[in-house]
Amino acid sequence: MSGDAPPAAPRPPGHPAALADGERVLFIDRKGRRYLTTLRAGQDYHYHGGAVAYDDIIGRAEGSKVRSAKGTSLLVLRPTASDWTLKGKRGAQVVYPKDQAMIVGLADIGPGAQVVEAGAGSGALTSALLRAVGPEGRVTSFELRDDHADIAERNVAERFGGAPANWELRRGDVAEGLAAISCDRLVLDLLEPERVVAAAVDALRPGGLLCAYTPTVPQVMRLREALDADARWGHAETVETLVRGWHVDGLAVRPNHRMVAHTAFLSTARRLADESG
Ligand SMILES: C[S@@+](CC[C@H](N)C(=O)[O-])C[C@H]1O[C@@H](n2cnc3c(N)ncnc32)[C@H](O)[C@@H]1O
Repeated sequence: MSGDAPPAAPRPPGHPAALADGERVLFIDRKGRRYLTTLRAGQDYHYHGGAVAYDDIIGRAEGSKVRSAKGTSLLVLRPTASDWTLKGKRGAQVVYPKDQAMIVGLADIGPGAQVVEAGAGSGALTSALLRAVGPEGRVTSFELRDDHADIAERNVAERFGGAPANWELRRGDVAEGLAAISCDRLVLDLLEPERVVAAAVDALRPGGLLCAYTPTVPQVMRLREALDADARWGHAETVETLVRGWHVDGLAVRPNHRMVAHTAFLSTARRLADESG
């Protein structure tokens, strides 16, 4: 067992330090099933493959294998951003890693960006946005429901080892909150993004980008109509992202039979200068 104190912020995959008491780690079994847990000195992890002593892991290198009391083997790794999303506590449905990556890319969200997001939901997309803007950027998240805001706050704090200094979570309707805000990126994952378009055009600086995540076709149609109705929006586009895994085993190389196909459509638009007409 190591006497290391738990890290203040989760160490990223590949960090040179040995696995420490108090760290969140991912167990992966022989069938590829993943379990997120916290290393606790003196305690055991119990699953269908038997009990695993955390003391057998603490002080070892990331990527080590450990055996349960029943002899089954588990691989121990630090979780990636994708693992944090897929294994985190959920209130609202989260934005999947494939769409998080596309939102960051399509909305051109990089270091220093001033991003407004709604709704925060479970905080999964929030975490991706915070990583993308870096310490010199800022993310302001709106969330209507207190229970969802509590989960977002908890998940983001767990992910970053406390509330990030460049993150503000506001409890309330984004359409009202935007009146007092100026930003260069606006990301919407809520039922009726078209209701936010009028407030968004005043909050977004000319040249800024709006990106909306909407699961259904009627949502896309209503949003695109609202954008088309105001000449201060331009270059609207809608895409979806399908990611298909492949089975690779010797000569048996083929697409997986199953995939998460449709999740949502991503619509982007640019805020034009006021005189554009
Ligand atoms: C699908 S969830 C968002 C999930 C989130 N993007 C994630 O990855 O964890 C949608 C959230 O939007 C919130 N919401 C809906 N309308 C809103 C509004 N007008 N202002 C702020 N939040 C809103 C809902 O309460 C809900 O929690």
